[in-house]
Amino acid sequence: MVPDEILAPPRTRPLFINLLGETIDPRVELTAALLEPAAFIPPKYFYDAVGSRLFETICELPEYPLMRTERSIVDAHVHEIAARIGPGSVLIDLGAGNCEKAERLFGWLAPTQYVAIDIAADFLRERLEILATRNPQHQMLGIAQDFTRTIQLPPQVERGARAFFFPGSSIGNFTPDQALAFLQRVRAAGGPDSHLLLGVDLVKEKSLLDLAYDDPLGVTAAFNLNVLRNVNGVLDSNFDVGDWRHVAFFNPECSRIEMHLEARRDLAVRWSSNNRQFCAGDRIHTENSYKYTPATLRELFRQAGYSAVTVYSDAASAFAVALGEA
Ligand code: AVI
Repeated sequence: MVPDEILAPPRTRPLFINLLGETIDPRVELTAALLEPAAFIPPKYFYDAVGSRLFETICELPEYPLMRTERSIVDAHVHEIAARIGPGSVLIDLGAGNCEKAERLFGWLAPTQYVAIDIAADFLRERLEILATRNPQHQMLGIAQDFTRTIQLPPQVERGARAFFFPGSSIGNFTPDQALAFLQRVRAAGGPDSHLLLGVDLVKEKSLLDLAYDDPLGVTAAFNLNVLRNVNGVLDSNFDVGDWRHVAFFNPECSRIEMHLEARRDLAVRWSSNNRQFCAGDRIHTENSYKYTPATLRELFRQAGYSAVTVYSDAASAFAVALGEA
């Protein structure tokens, strides 16, 4: 009897490179944000263990069909998308997370290399190891990097056509200026013959957008309020979740969902030597989620230097998956 491991093809373990460099001290960042005249909390603080699970639950809600719709659009057009990108490109997954969305493209794109980039280094390493056992035929590289600030591709990224993938409408959490700068960086990192496949939530009826961010079960409210518990853990501050109310609404002038936490009474929050007073009704801004139209999306790609863009959408035009060609 020949043992299985001798018969099985050798699996190359994914290579992993940490390019995180200097990161901002969360205490310094949060203190500055909370002491601003218009207090805010950067949305990345939503995603502690509880917040990440709450976000997964949000994605299951009927009021928040964003991820399901994105998947159905990709499924419906994957043949054409794959034909446009062409086989054998380097697939670069920005904000790869658990890498599952990109994995669904492997069979269609047949990438020569899968490059997963994410800021959460340990999680990415763990998920890539698992992915590699399921897909031993694919060469994989993990890069820990804050790709929202810089896109640095090390020499280990293979040469050849590059296809970037940025799903989940995460682009909506950038301001329009940041979104343009980001797409320009992607375009520059991709060079000629590159593609960008981008998932984007579209402007729709205000009542639908409001419900998506203020669902009747209160999951999004819990997601928003949980940020205060995370901040307490980082700063050793004394936020009392019960003193705050979830507020979310579509602001049509800015084409964005705004999420805030509103003080239910006059109160003071203390941490180290700091003290911030809030009056009843004062708000802490926690998130913006910009919504695009097919026209504003096309314009974004054009300004970023893409010569062609195809916008795929669902029957209700609620969500879009755009493919930009450099
Ligand atoms: C992660 N991001 C795309 C979500 C969004 O829709 O902006 C975050 C979210 N916030 C509340 N619900 C979902």
